[in-house]
Amino acid sequence: MNRVRNIVILTGAGVSAESGIDTFRSAGGLWEQHRVEDVATPEAFARDPDLVLRFYDMRRAAIQEKTPNAAHEALARLDAAWPGGLLIVTQNVDDLHERAGARRVLHMHGEHLNAWCVACDARARWRDALIDRPPCPACGARALRPDVVWFGEMPYGMDAIHAALRDADLFVSIGTSGAVYPAAGLVRHARDIGARTLELNLEPSQGSAWFHESRLGAASAIVPAWVDEVLAG
Ligand code: APR
Repeated sequence: MNRVRNIVILTGAGVSAESGIDTFRSAGGLWEQHRVEDVATPEAFARDPDLVLRFYDMRRAAIQEKTPNAAHEALARLDAAWPGGLLIVTQNVDDLHERAGARRVLHMHGEHLNAWCVACDARARWRDALIDRPPCPACGARALRPDVVWFGEMPYGMDAIHAALRDADLFVSIGTSGAVYPAAGLVRHARDIGARTLELNLEPSQGSAWFHESRLGAASAIVPAWVDEVLAG
C-alpha cells in the first residue's frame, strides 16, 4: 500500500452484525419486522410519535448491551496507526466504532445515542427513553426526537464526506448492501477521482460492479486481514 495516503471507509450494518445488531435487509432483518414507512420517516413520526419513539427507545437500549467485534477493533487499530488521511463514514447509528477506539468517525445517518430538540435544534447525548417526553436539556421543551436520519431527510456531513473523497486514494466499503443513496453512490465518486475501490462484504452487494475488487466473507474475519495488509505496507 506504499502509494496510498488517504483512505475513506464506508461501513454499514454488516460491520455490526456479528455484534448482534440486526441488519436491515437480511432475512428477518429490521425492515422485515417493521415497515420503514411506519417507523423511519418524518411522516411516521407526525402520524404516530409514540410508535416511532418506542421503536427507537428499544433500539437505543439494545445497542448499549452490545460490544464491538473484531472488525470494529481492526478499524480502530487502523485509525490509530494510519499516518495519512482516514475517515470512517458510517451509515450505522450504533456507537461500536467509537467504543472500539476509532476517532475519525462520521455518522452520516445520525446516532441512536443522540437526541435532537425540534424546538431549539440542540442535540444532546442521550442513553435513556424518549417515550415520556423528557425536557430538552437546553431549552426545557418536551420536543426531543431521535437524532437519526429518516428516509426523506438529508444525511449528515455530506460536505465533509465529499471533501475526504476528493483526496482519497483508496475507498473501502464494508458491510453494506448498497441499497440506500447517497451512501451507495460514494463508490462512484471515488472512482471518478481515480481512487482504488475495495468492497468487503458477506455477499455481493448492489454496488459490487463499481468496485475494482470485492472480498467476500464475515467482517470479523476479512476486515482484520485487510487492516493487517494495509499496515504491513
Ligand atoms: N460481515 C460482512 N457483511 C455482512 C455481515 C457480516 N457478518 N452480515 C451481513 N452483511 C452484509 C449483508 O450481506 C448486506 O450486504 O451487510 C449488508 C447489510 O445491508 P443492509 O441490511 O441493507 O444494511 P445497510 O447497507 O447498512 O443499510 C443502509 O439503509 O435502512 C437504511 O438507514 C438504514 O443505514 C441503513 C441503510
